[in-house]
Amino acid sequence: MSSDKVIVLITGGNSGIGYSLAEQLLADKTKHVIITSRSIEKGDTALKALQELKQPGSVEMMQLQLTDPDSIAALAEEVQEKHGRLDALVNNAAQGAFPEGTSTFEQMQTSFAANVSGPAVMVETFKPLLDKSTTTPRIINVTSGAGSLATRTDLTKTDLPLVPPYNCSKAALNMLGACDFVKYKDEKLKVFTYCPGYRVSNLSQFNKAEYGAKPVEGGASPMLDILNGQKDGEAGTFMNSEGGHWPW
Ligand SMILES: NC(=O)c1ccc[n+]([C@@H]2O[C@H](COP(=O)([O-])OP(=O)(O)OC[C@H]3O[C@@H](n4cnc5c(N)ncnc54)[C@H](OP(=O)(O)O)[C@@H]3O)[C@@H](O)[C@H]2O)c1
Repeated sequence: MSSDKVIVLITGGNSGIGYSLAEQLLADKTKHVIITSRSIEKGDTALKALQELKQPGSVEMMQLQLTDPDSIAALAEEVQEKHGRLDALVNNAAQGAFPEGTSTFEQMQTSFAANVSGPAVMVETFKPLLDKSTTTPRIINVTSGAGSLATRTDLTKTDLPLVPPYNCSKAALNMLGACDFVKYKDEKLKVFTYCPGYRVSNLSQFNKAEYGAKPVEGGASPMLDILNGQKDGEAGTFMNSEGGHWPW
């Protein structure tokens, strides 16, 4: 039964940081995790792997294509029907790379659709369900230091990705989080902007240990404290995975 548990929905939970967060949350019997996946096949594989861990938390999988508002609406309906509320939304899914030859226009459009418009519509669509939370509802927008304007213009920072569609979309996601932080400041909803750091994942061809990417678990684990209410004072800041902050 999920009704007495904290219900956490993680977009893009079939892989990388989202999957690791789901895995870590399941160690807690008070959590019910909904992972989403745009591919049912990949989602089912991830769900099976998580269930095989036989952890005390519970988990289910729902389909979500973030670039399709109808898919977001259908997901919200499914959550409403099954649970009647949501306690935390982790806007984790993102598009980080494109096949060689993809036009700049398409890269920009798809990056913004997946990394900004999708999360914005997720917040709007799930707000009524978050309002029904029996605890403090929380939103985490998983962003990147690559979206920091201050860092991008610092010429001493040579290790930051220079991928304009991704950089621009994450800067815009940061502004979405800043706007929502202000918009909901008088409500119980807390909005967090969090960068997991450079991690091994499927995000791009550079997310490999050989290039210096760190294990995915350390990028996901700080979100446990956020979701457990230990970081509420840092809502509205640009948090990193080392307990510090990025400049906007
Ligand atoms: N890894 C890093 O170094 C790093 C650093 C800073 C920030 N981040 C952020 O961390 C988050 C997680 O990324 P990750 O590194 O874990 O990468 P990942 O392994 O590629 O995971 C991304 C997830 O998002 C899903 N996704 C992508 N586009 C989608 C769409 N249009 N609709 C629905 N789902 C979609 C992917 O699904 P598929 O499996 O179907 O592709 C996958 O489940 C992202 O927001 C990323 O920007 C990562």
